[in-house]
Amino acid sequence: MRIANQICIITGGGSGIGRAASLQFAAEGGNVVVADLHLDAAQATVDLITVAGGKALAVAVDVGDSAQVQAVIAKAVSTHGSIDVIVNDAAMMTFTPIVDIVEAAFIGHRQAEASAKRRGWVEAEDRRPTGAPEA
Ligand SMILES: NC(=O)c1ccc[n+]([C@@H]2O[C@H](COP(=O)([O-])OP(=O)(O)OC[C@H]3O[C@@H](n4cnc5c(N)ncnc54)[C@H](O)[C@@H]3O)[C@@H](O)[C@H]2O)c1
Repeated sequence: MRIANQICIITGGGSGIGRAASLQFAAEGGNVVVADLHLDAAQATVDLITVAGGKALAVAVDVGDSAQVQAVIAKAVSTHGSIDVIVNDAAMMTFTPIVDIVEAAFIGHRQAEASAKRRGWVEAEDRRPTGAPEA
C-alpha cells in the first residue's frame, strides 16, 4: 500500500488512463486530486471514487497554462498540506494518419505537450517533501 494516505495529483483524470489511474490510486488509499480541462469529467471521476469509498477532489486545469497549473498545486497544498505524487497524464492524442498532419500542427502539439508536462514537474518540484525521491 505505497499509495495509502499519499496526496496524488492526476492530470487528465477525467477520462481514459487518467481516470483509471485515479480510481486505482484511490482504491489503494490515496487522496486523489483529479485535475482535468473539463471539470464535469473530473467530478464524474470523483463521484466514482466517492461511491467506492475513496477520497478525491475535482479541480479544473489547462495544463498548458502555467498559472492554472500553479493554482492546482496551491489548491492541493492548501487543502492537504503537501503533494506526494503527480501523474502528468493530460495531453491530446490523434489517430490522424501522419501524412495528413500538417507540420505546424504537429510541431505545435508536440511542443505544447512537452511544455505542459515540463511546467507541471517544475512547479511541483519545489513542493516535494524533503527527502522525496527524484521523479
Ligand atoms: N490511449 C492510448 O493508447 C495511449 C497510448 C500512448 C500514450 N497515450 C497518452 O496517454 C495520455 C492519456 O490518454 P487517454 O487515451 O487516457 O486520453 P483521453 O482523451 O481519454 O483522456 C485525456 C484527458 O486529458 C484531459 N485533457 C486534455 N487536454 C488537457 C489539458 N490541456 N489540461 C488538462 N486536461 C486535459 C481531457 O479532458 C481528458 O479527460 C495522453 O497523453 C496520451 O497521449 C495514450
